Amino acid sequence: MIYACILAGGIGSRMGSEKPKQYINIGGKPIILHTAEKFCMCSEFRQILILCPEDWMEYTEGLIRKHIGEDSRIRILPGGETRNDTIQNAIAYIESIGELDEDTVVVTHDAVRPFVTYRIIKENIEAAAEYGACDTVIPATDTIVESQSGDIISAIPDRAVLYQGQTPQSFKAIKLRELYHSLTEDEKSILTDAAKIFVMKNLPVKLVRGENSNIKITYPYDLTVAESLLKGE
Ligand code: CTP
Repeated sequence: MIYACILAGGIGSRMGSEKPKQYINIGGKPIILHTAEKFCMCSEFRQILILCPEDWMEYTEGLIRKHIGEDSRIRILPGGETRNDTIQNAIAYIESIGELDEDTVVVTHDAVRPFVTYRIIKENIEAAAEYGACDTVIPATDTIVESQSGDIISAIPDRAVLYQGQTPQSFKAIKLRELYHSLTEDEKSILTDAAKIFVMKNLPVKLVRGENSNIKITYPYDLTVAESLLKGE
């Protein structure tokens, strides 16, 4: 079974808006709805789990009812303290309904990446089923400079082998859970990325080609970019 997990459990502190950024309108409706609609168009999903801050669950239910209607596959669930905890909440829910087995795949996606495409989602599903884990990336366009001190350059890695991570990131759910629980609290605290859990354990993570347009809305400037992208869609 394949489950979409739309990660909307954050508060968007870098955006600095009064509500979490996933609820800000672009093109006249909340970002989270644009994202949810992309997943609703995929018949591959058994359920589409939307994980949001507990205080926003009722509001999110209302938005979905009003704009998407009765897609019986949608479930609104509470997010966790960190992004990885939010993913674990999704897996715990799948287990609670008795649907977690070796073949269960979770396609985890940032709610604030509303321009994901069907091609990207489909390739994620295929790659996760075959390799156990995959990550959506685009080739790095800027030269990436490393500085351990934050003051002086320590390395300039070869750009030809560097990529920028996007989402979805998709996994065999049981494996992800097992690996996550095997980490120490220190390891968990420095973990920003779910695919990194597989990398830390020397397990393969297949690359899926993303799109330049699959941006993450983080800062107010990104809202302007998103509005322009919508006009071109
Ligand atoms: N996210 C989540 N659960 C958390 C934290 C983040 O589901 N506990 C989600 C966010 O809602 C977002 C995605 O993960 O859709 C990417 O995270 P990011 O852009 O960092 O979102 P925020 O944590 O909301 O933003 P900020 O770091 O600026 O506070």
